[in-house]
Amino acid sequence: MPSAVHNISAVEVITAKRDGGRLSDEQIDWVVSAYTHGDVADEQMASLAMAILLNGMDAEEIARWTQAMIDSGDVLSLGAVGRPLVDKHSTGGVGDKITLPLAPLVAACGAAVPQLSGRGLGHTGGTLDKLESIPGWRASLSLDEIAAQLSDVGAVVCATTPTLAPADRKLYALRDVTGTVESIPLIASSIMSKKIAEGTGGLVLDVKVGSGAFMKTRERARELAETMVRIGSAHGLPTTALLTDMSVPLGRAVGNALEVAESVEVLRGGGPADVVELTVVLAREMLALAGITDLDPAEVLSSGAAYPVWERMIAAQGGDPSAPLPRATHVEPVLAERSGVLTGCDAIAVGVAAWRLGAGRARKEDTVQAAAGVLLLARPGDEVEAGQPLLELHTDTPDAMPGARAALADGLVISDEPAARGPLLVDTIRP
Ligand code: URA
Repeated sequence: MPSAVHNISAVEVITAKRDGGRLSDEQIDWVVSAYTHGDVADEQMASLAMAILLNGMDAEEIARWTQAMIDSGDVLSLGAVGRPLVDKHSTGGVGDKITLPLAPLVAACGAAVPQLSGRGLGHTGGTLDKLESIPGWRASLSLDEIAAQLSDVGAVVCATTPTLAPADRKLYALRDVTGTVESIPLIASSIMSKKIAEGTGGLVLDVKVGSGAFMKTRERARELAETMVRIGSAHGLPTTALLTDMSVPLGRAVGNALEVAESVEVLRGGGPADVVELTVVLAREMLALAGITDLDPAEVLSSGAAYPVWERMIAAQGGDPSAPLPRATHVEPVLAERSGVLTGCDAIAVGVAAWRLGAGRARKEDTVQAAAGVLLLARPGDEVEAGQPLLELHTDTPDAMPGARAALADGLVISDEPAARGPLLVDTIRP
């Protein structure tokens, strides 16, 4: 296998980073391209990813790494859709169904949202998995279909194409099995390379912080957000990042079809206050980047005007928006052990419970259950009575119930007094 080109070799790149040095532009371009083409072996790239995780990369290295990943594939050209393009990316959380009401809302206000998504892994659900619970809906679209839907409807949520940042596809799978996911330079370049290659004109990042998030502390979340905003600036992509709370699940529904049903409530002008608040905050930032300042997304959402856009968005991808959603064959309550105020409903505990019930996958090849998940009947701050149902567990595989209950064992806290809760919007980071 040719693992050296000109005067660069994989071992030299690995040892430079292992010893705390910085990688040159040529080294970065070469190693990303050679890995994509199979000329750098998985074990060499795994070693380099670990060296990057341990020793970091500076801002210039990260910008160049991102560019090399973009250059590994195609850059979509969606400029002809006739509306300003703007997208959002969430780092993933429990009950985070915000894309579902947000994309039609922003489209209803006049922008176009090209949301090319991946699938969920672990305790955070994937947007495509949620939408696939709608009968007939399909995730895979051709580039022509994406462009046509953006012009006609203004919003597309679909599977990313194999030609978009293929270096990231290969590297992310490798990081997943080599303990190298949690590197801020690698996460930031992975996310931003895909969004820049997608051809959006503006980007709003929802960086989650808390137990149910990738980033457990505010410091790490801020560092990731700042790194991504800096990459956006270096590549001429106007980018705003919001840090938002993920210590409790968003809304009441966690699980694919359950979250679609809750999103429809929001699109019809109702739904849980936190889901509405976050949808509106993100829409406001997206519309500002798109230059649309004459509409209040809160009014558009509460009027129900985004719902017909949702119907068209789903129908354009073969889905039947009026078809009944799948329902689980087994539903069991989780009861309050005492009376008091529910002060804790830990996002990671609920996320793992939903995952064990079948809503998420442990490996990429796994299938998910459309109807599995957790419904929160009580929310933090609610007064509860002993024996009252706090949650509902939904699954088609009743053997999964004990595992889900075990995940929740320390996740629900009932106290004598209410506890103060932090805000949903923790911070905003602009270029
Ligand atoms: N999501 C991505 O797309 N890439 C990462 O590296 C982590 C989360």
